[in-house]
Amino acid sequence: MAGNTFGTQFRIMTFGESHGRAVGVVIDGVRPGLPIDTEFIQRELDRRRPGQSKVTTVRNEADRVEILSGVFEEKTTGTPICMVIWNKDQQSKAYEKIKDMFRPGHAGYTYLAKYGISDYRGGGRSSGRETASRVAAGAVAKSLLARRGIHVFAYTKEVAGIKSTTIDIGEIERNSLRCPDQRAARRMEKLVLKTKKGGDSVGGIVEVVVKNPPVGLGEPVFDKLEADLAKALMSIGAIKGFEVGNGFQAARLRGSQNNDPMYFDKKAGRVRTRTNNAGGIAGGISNGEDIVLRIAVKPPSSIVKEQETVTTRGKAAKISVEGRHDPCICPRVVPVAEAMVALTLLDHLTRQELLRKKTRLRAVRDVIDVVDHNILLLLAERQALVEQVGVLKQKRGQQIYDPSREKEILAKQLATARELRLDETFVREMCTAIFHLAKSTQEKMNKRSR
Ligand SMILES: Cc1cc2nc3c(=O)[nH]c(=O)nc-3n(C[C@H](O)[C@H](O)[C@H](O)COP(=O)(O)O)c2cc1C
Repeated sequence: MAGNTFGTQFRIMTFGESHGRAVGVVIDGVRPGLPIDTEFIQRELDRRRPGQSKVTTVRNEADRVEILSGVFEEKTTGTPICMVIWNKDQQSKAYEKIKDMFRPGHAGYTYLAKYGISDYRGGGRSSGRETASRVAAGAVAKSLLARRGIHVFAYTKEVAGIKSTTIDIGEIERNSLRCPDQRAARRMEKLVLKTKKGGDSVGGIVEVVVKNPPVGLGEPVFDKLEADLAKALMSIGAIKGFEVGNGFQAARLRGSQNNDPMYFDKKAGRVRTRTNNAGGIAGGISNGEDIVLRIAVKPPSSIVKEQETVTTRGKAAKISVEGRHDPCICPRVVPVAEAMVALTLLDHLTRQELLRKKTRLRAVRDVIDVVDHNILLLLAERQALVEQVGVLKQKRGQQIYDPSREKEILAKQLATARELRLDETFVREMCTAIFHLAKSTQEKMNKRSR
């Protein structure tokens, strides 16, 4: 099965299934000597962990992270970092009853049709549990970005049509929905619990904000920053829509309303925009303003309410998905979305640093190549003059070898070498080689004319 890796320079590969022994991640491309805060990784996993509140599944996983490699004395060694999170509370029996039925909205049918084999217990590889691995890797990316002053955070902006009207960052981690508006959060929670009681589920919108991103992340064609961020976020289960900046709203505006007026901010020493309708990205490249993204989170598919389906043999059936499921995934998607955005940014940041290094090196080498080329052009020009001198000497019947002339040239060249702080021994050897070339050229000319 392909597609278990993400990123180009800072790469992750996740592994494991919902009801297997563990889920985990291998991070490749980490520089040695960077600090790794295991407690921070654990805190991030705790934010995604099931069983946190009334609006999330009651599956009780401690989600303790174990770092198997790549870290020594809380510092990266530069070798792959492998992190594992053991599954402890699988309760696979709940799936026995419905193992021959496809659950609407889940990957069961498509997965089985594609691979011919599927782990029916809790969605296997397609489960939301896989995202624990992303959060562990994302925590590493987040702390490396934070060292450069870049911060990624997300929150639940809307649940089942209830919108947050204020953004109080301090409120996000205080309520069960991770909503930045306390009043809206209370209404959301009520609605989620009521829906759960009725055997149903609700969806919502999660907004991700990146504070202080550098200018220049992203490439202008296929690897546009928003294209990679869209892939990162759309790869999370249950995400059905992606927007950057004004997003779909831009389709309803005039150019004059949607453009962000520009100005030069002397204090910041760079071009800035008065508004941020573009969401911090122009032409696929970050412009230094906050990056603002939104994703649509569908209502979870596992619901108690009876639904029409078919068995794996194609027979009509009715299904009611019992067990421990999230009635609204938004609060658990928040840390996963932050992780995926952090991983994407760190990958692009690493690419950007490599590009800068390469460009500088390549530019200097290009100039060296031009200088080397010019040295040969000058040598060819000198040879042409040597031949002219050879003809004149022949006409006058003059000797080829003129030690006083060589002495005179050498003295001049050594004086120039001293002025230019060039190595005198080298210049002496170079002049001797040039004199030798001139002499042999003129000797050949004489032989030819005899
Ligand atoms: C953190 C997290 C938790 C999830 N929990 C549930 C859940 O309890 N019940 C459910 O039906 N889907 C849940 N999902 C969503 C399913 O994994 C997803 O809908 C399913 O694999 C089908 O994929 P798709 O919705 O992307 O098409 C969760 C997703 C995430 C990211």
